[in-house]
Amino acid sequence: MTFPPGFVWGTATSAFQIEGATTVDGRGPSIWDTFAATPGKVEGGDTGEPACEHYTRYPEDIALMKRLGVSSYRFSLAWPRIQPTGTGPAEPRGLAFYDRLVDALLEAGIEPMVTLYHWDLPQALQDKGGWVNRDTVDHFTEYARIAHAHLGDRVKQWTTLNEPFCPAYLGYGIGIHAPGIVDPASALVAAHHLLLAHGRAMTAMRAQARPGQQFSLVLNFSTARVAVADEAHLAAARKVEGLSGRLFLEPVLRGVYPADVLSEVAHLNALAPAIREGDLAEIAAPIDWLGVNYYNPTRVAPAADPLYETPGALPGLRGVEILPPEGPLTHTGWEQEAAALTDLLRWLAEQAPGMPLLVTENGSAFPDEVSPDGQVHDPERTAYLLAHLRAVHAAIQAGVDVRGYLAWSLLDNFEWAFGYDKRFGLVHVDFATQARTFKDSAHAYAKVVAANAVAPE
Ligand code: FCB
Repeated sequence: MTFPPGFVWGTATSAFQIEGATTVDGRGPSIWDTFAATPGKVEGGDTGEPACEHYTRYPEDIALMKRLGVSSYRFSLAWPRIQPTGTGPAEPRGLAFYDRLVDALLEAGIEPMVTLYHWDLPQALQDKGGWVNRDTVDHFTEYARIAHAHLGDRVKQWTTLNEPFCPAYLGYGIGIHAPGIVDPASALVAAHHLLLAHGRAMTAMRAQARPGQQFSLVLNFSTARVAVADEAHLAAARKVEGLSGRLFLEPVLRGVYPADVLSEVAHLNALAPAIREGDLAEIAAPIDWLGVNYYNPTRVAPAADPLYETPGALPGLRGVEILPPEGPLTHTGWEQEAAALTDLLRWLAEQAPGMPLLVTENGSAFPDEVSPDGQVHDPERTAYLLAHLRAVHAAIQAGVDVRGYLAWSLLDNFEWAFGYDKRFGLVHVDFATQARTFKDSAHAYAKVVAANAVAPE
């Protein structure tokens, strides 16, 4: 099962999850430092220290990527390294770290793909309301301008946000992510401001772009699955996909919020009032490709009572039951269904004809250990990886324009509220010694990358 010539193979990480070094070189605190320091928020009391000490060990990590044979590396910049309080002049030592990283990647023949925001908002901005405060949009735009002006002579691939769903819904809606606020109305306001920040930053970077640069957004999707395809079940699925996916996708592609989603959340009286004239035109600034993060499907059914308030992350959702996942689950308790990725990619191709897609994250957590033989045997992750690569291949065969696949993640890392216990890496990290060990899945991935093909099942 061969992939198209030039198919991009890579791995992905994010700043807070791997860098460590949270107090050096002028870095300001982020909302994740504050959240992790709050007892009870992160499993095991884990924090952004030591993470993978990538701040100093990045040469070793680039060597791991070379060993995998990948051509691309998707990582994020820590806003509080570049602007410690979220506004004001750039901290040169923060920029210098990303200079070193980018230069070393280019030296190794690996294309850097920068994400500007992977959730580590400067705490000083949260003190003024964070993403609920519309001013954050302009602060983000200024940060984008600074980062792009500085690294844009070398970095061609720029992504504004990673998964605005998570900071908005998990951060402000149900509070399981930083900043830990529990208020569904705030979740929707934050979502709108994140989308506006994406659009405005996109336009600001375009205005100073160099030839050959590309600009993108990364969204997460969870395909809704129903046991029976009757009208009530399909309506439940549509509600879930609407609030989790189309609410973010449609304004970016078409400059409108989906009418059914607006009416679903109207009772919170939050989203519509947050929208000002001209916002949607800004959000719809053209993107060059869409990043797609996919991990697991969601099983849904209609609730008996249409006004039943569905528990969980989707703000304002009513009349839907989210059912437990089935089958052998991953260590994060997520269902595994590769075919849902094919369906998702095909659906996106219909939604956004002509838009190139990149799978910017996909992966699985399992409780890996280094065996007495010195190896890390992770058959479940290897199976998950290969199954999902076949699913991407199937979408390409069906005519979907998928340009690349970036495995989440290069390294075991700080998995947000799960702490270090949930390991998503192709490479095992012993957090006590910082020793890195290729897992079997890394060897399997290296084989796929070298062949530009995955073996059939
Ligand atoms: C995604 C995040 C990424 C990682 C994976 C497992 O939602 O973008 O940082 O936590 O999930």
